[in-house]
This record gives sequence, structure tokens and C-alpha cells, in this order.
Amino acid sequence: MNTTQQDWERFWKGRIHEQAIFNEDLETWSDVAWKVGLEDWHRLFEKLSPGKDLLECGCGSGKVSRYMARRGFRCTLLDYSEEALRLARANFEALALTAEFVRGDVKRMLFPDGRFDVVYSGGMLEFFADIQGPIDEMVRVLKPGGLFSANMVPNKFSCQTLADMERTLAHTVKSLVCGKVRDAFVAVKHLPQGVSRASLRDYVRCCEAAGLASVTARCVTPFPALALGKQGDRLYARFLRRMLPWWRRFNESPSPWHESWGIAYRIYGVKRG
Ligand SMILES: C[S@@+](CC[C@H](N)C(=O)[O-])C[C@H]1O[C@@H](n2cnc3c(N)ncnc32)[C@H](O)[C@@H]1O
Repeated sequence: MNTTQQDWERFWKGRIHEQAIFNEDLETWSDVAWKVGLEDWHRLFEKLSPGKDLLECGCGSGKVSRYMARRGFRCTLLDYSEEALRLARANFEALALTAEFVRGDVKRMLFPDGRFDVVYSGGMLEFFADIQGPIDEMVRVLKPGGLFSANMVPNKFSCQTLADMERTLAHTVKSLVCGKVRDAFVAVKHLPQGVSRASLRDYVRCCEAAGLASVTARCVTPFPALALGKQGDRLYARFLRRMLPWWRRFNESPSPWHESWGIAYRIYGVKRG
């Protein structure tokens, strides 16, 4: 939307590489959310992809590709941000993994038609005002029978909207206690602002128009990020670990109320042969 290439360069600049793909000790909400996301996608890739050539579009730090490379996928990572690619490369090197890194725009990729078995993007499509263009291009570079997969965090009501009230209250109290009265009354939002309001049905429509069959769309992530402090985060993560089976069931269910409660969209489908 109004997030530019320069914004992404600034976002990734100066970030240092990670030693692990995610913290498997699961000490925060984010650790648990990554565990669920990575394991779910891996299961789906193993089940539905016709082969191991994976393209990650808008790769950022390349977390998903690193996880899949560890499990035998041959990864190509594409991003238009040089800083994102620098970080992704460093992250691969830190784990002694190899991949191909390509700088380019997802709307005009230089790959030939039908090059990949799986094409994935995470946290990227919601930044486009027109989602059909990038989806068409992602499907173009897929082999017939190949798997399209994406998740996005849309601009909509979810349990995170309620949790942001708690985050705002915590921020207000902290600012007042520290005497920063001017900062105290600012709303705190966990998710990026200004992203697309496209609904799950809009994504399904675009995926089908791009030539995908068996399109499956779900609203996922039933627990929000909270501002609890280090100790609170640990306790919350312990609770989330116990809720993992329920979290996974939520992610798989097509129940319509999930679209009001879940934070993210997950969509996948197979390119018609
Ligand atoms: C929120 S980050 C997601 C990073 C990563 N996929 C993840 O889930 O952690 C979105 C990424 O998409 C990239 N991006 C946005 N628009 C793009 C475009 N038109 N072509 C290529 N990359 C793009 C940005 O540079 C950024 O690195």
C-alpha cells in the first residue's frame, strides 16, 4: 500500500543474523507462533508439493526458507530489498545452509514459466493494493501441479484488536509512571498499519482467477501477542504450549467465526495442469 522499497531497506538495515531459525525453548508468543506456522507449512509442502524446488517471495530474513532448506528443499529467495537479502544470506551462512538469492520485484520476476514446485510468500501480499498482479506472477513461475502458498496479516478486526487495548493500557501506565505524560496517550498496535483490507474471499477469487484449483483458505492464529514483560511472556508461552493442539485445530477449521477472531490468513492451492 503506502509501504515503499525504501521503507523495507530501512526496516532491515543494521539487523544482525540469527543463530537459530526460531527459539525452540518457546519462551514467547512469537516463538510459539513461528513453531506452529513452520510446522504447518512443512506438513503441507511435504503432502502437496510435487518436488523440492521452493521459491520464497518477499523473503525478508528467510525464516521459512531456512526451515525448509534444513528439511531438504532447494530454496530460492527473492526480495526487492538489498538489506533483506544481505540478512537472509547471513542467516543461511550462520546455519551452513545454501540457497539462491535473487533481487527482484515479485510483480515482474525473471524466472521462466513453470520453474518451481512450491511458491510461498509470508507477510507480503497484504502490502499490495492490487493483489491479483503478484498472485498471477507467483502462479506463472509454478509448475503445473505445483503448490501456491501464502499467509498474510490483513487489516481487520481480530483477537489482536482486543489485545492491543491491553498493550495500549500497559504503555499508558508505564509512560505515566516514568513521567512521560506526552507519550502516554498514544495507541499501541502490534500489527503493521496501512495494509490491505482484502478479505479471505478476495484472496480465493484472485487465486482461482490466476489458475489455481483446490484453493483452501483459513483464518489462523487464535491467540494474540500481549505486552506482559519478560516473566509474563514466559508464563503466557507456557499456557500457549498447552493450547497447541487447540491452536492447530483452529488453524485447520473452516468455521466462519474464525474470520472474526483469527489474526492471519493462510491460503494454498494447486496450479491446474
Ligand atoms: C513483512 S516482510 C516478510 C518477511 C518474511 N517473509 C517473513 O515472513 O518474515 C515483507 C517483505 O516483502 C518484501 N517485498 C514487498 N514488496 C515486494 C515486491 N514488490 N517485490 C519483492 N519483495 C517485496 C519486503 O522487502 C519485505 O522484505
